[in-house]
Amino acid sequence: MRIGVPREPGARETRVAATPATVVGLIDLGATVVVEPGAGERASFTDDAYAAAGAEIGDPWSADVLLALRTPDAEHLDRLAPGTTLIAMVGPARHPELLADLARRGITVLATDAVPRISRAQSLDVLSSMANIAGYRAVVEAAHRFGRFFTGQVTAAGKVPPAKVLVAGAGVAGLAAIGAASSLGAVVRATDPRPEVAEQVRSLGGDFLAVEAGDAAQESTDGYARATSEAYDARAAEIYTEQAADVDVVITTALIPGRAAPRLLTAADVALMKPGSVVVDMAAGQGGNVEGSVADEVVVTDNGVIIVGDTDLAARLPAQASQLYGTNLVNLLKLLVPEKDGRLVLDLDDVVVRGVTVTHHGEVLWPPPPISVSAGAGGNVDRAPVEPAAATPVVAPAKVASPARRYTLIAVAFALLFAATAFAPPALATNLTVFVLAVVIGYYVIGKVHHALHTPLMSVTNAISGVVVVGALLQFGQHGTVVSVLAFVAILLASINIVGGFAVTRRMLAMFTKGPAS
Ligand code: NAI
Repeated sequence: MRIGVPREPGARETRVAATPATVVGLIDLGATVVVEPGAGERASFTDDAYAAAGAEIGDPWSADVLLALRTPDAEHLDRLAPGTTLIAMVGPARHPELLADLARRGITVLATDAVPRISRAQSLDVLSSMANIAGYRAVVEAAHRFGRFFTGQVTAAGKVPPAKVLVAGAGVAGLAAIGAASSLGAVVRATDPRPEVAEQVRSLGGDFLAVEAGDAAQESTDGYARATSEAYDARAAEIYTEQAADVDVVITTALIPGRAAPRLLTAADVALMKPGSVVVDMAAGQGGNVEGSVADEVVVTDNGVIIVGDTDLAARLPAQASQLYGTNLVNLLKLLVPEKDGRLVLDLDDVVVRGVTVTHHGEVLWPPPPISVSAGAGGNVDRAPVEPAAATPVVAPAKVASPARRYTLIAVAFALLFAATAFAPPALATNLTVFVLAVVIGYYVIGKVHHALHTPLMSVTNAISGVVVVGALLQFGQHGTVVSVLAFVAILLASINIVGGFAVTRRMLAMFTKGPAS
């Protein structure tokens, strides 16, 4: 199998579908890789680096499989032989005429932007990889245009308050933006119609602004936002108006699969923002979440608000985006070349393979049959609704026990406590009371500690383990075999906690240690 990697057309496309590192992965699958001269130039990958990785530098258009970012133009498509497999982001839902043309040419097309969002396909999910990068870059663009710090500071020249950032839509791009803005020190708030994302927002350092609309229409059972209700939109509009007057930066990422981008901020909201505030409308390419945003343009309103409508945010980190895109493609090819013998096997019974195959043997196979769903992150216009995968850190929503189960557990706990105090020696009852109080207080205290402080908290639990070891050593061999065995178990468990705590703390500290200068 010969895999071709062309230079992408157009001045704005800076990415490339394979990097020297991913070429190695492709060769491991038994393929020969041909890279067009200068293909990786705009992403800082030289022809020499590709050659060193084992690729040939030459004409990719005669290859059996072509890896690309975008669909090649007609002139280049003419150079592909019938039976060639094209793997690229083709936007199957938006371009039915293109699919018909590709099918007519006898080209098998695997659309990388049609990967179903299921756990098994997470490592090939190109849209999540790109949205993750774009969410981060949206914050960088906003910070670049905002004339102040994001973080609060106390300086000799006065106190600087932190910037306030509102992220509307907490899917993949939104969560990446929340994480990036929090790590720059901003105060971050976020909205989303899916209440299950609240915990994910908090885990990244943001505040979730719940839209209490008095109906359950916006709750999702499949991890995807449904069209929001009128009541939801009315309440959300009030929140956006309140927030517009308060925040310095707004990043909008709202999307409902298969629909135009929902309008979140009106021109009147933007008019309430302070001069110098920045709005990044990530959905500008799909009609925009913000009134007045223009795709690929930066608009400055009469009141001095900067509205950024960039649609190429991922391509602004070309080396990173190419690396992640290329890795997603290697993972897709691992699925297609199961024997690693350079032979491509298109198993259309596999839901992932079926999902991405949009033309084959002269037929258009889009849309794929629906896949069963489960809750989680959001979707994309070109995807069938499916179970989630995450490109950004995601915390599973906490399971809440039913009231009946909770009351039964409380009753059993009280019964056990009663039995212990009624029938056990008085000393045990006292110790047990202290133990139960410690558990309850510990549960509430630790539950209120911010995630960022969990490592120092672990040091405190290590100190407690030290006290346990001392207590157990004093008991050892004093009061018979049972006490000695219990003391031994206590020493063992506390020692595991101490050693494990030190190991984890060391690993965490190593993350902040700079490596040797290169
Ligand atoms: P996603 O599907 O993971 O997330 C979209 C989120 O919007 C979901 O969490 C959904 O619940 C939420 N949402 C839906 N309706 C809403 C409403 N009325 N108010 C608030 N939130 C709402 O999508 P992903 O991958 O994060 O992409 C987000 C947007 O960014 C898309 O429009 C995508 O096309 C765009 N994008 C833009 C790029 C650029 O360069 N400008 C690059 C990559 C993605």
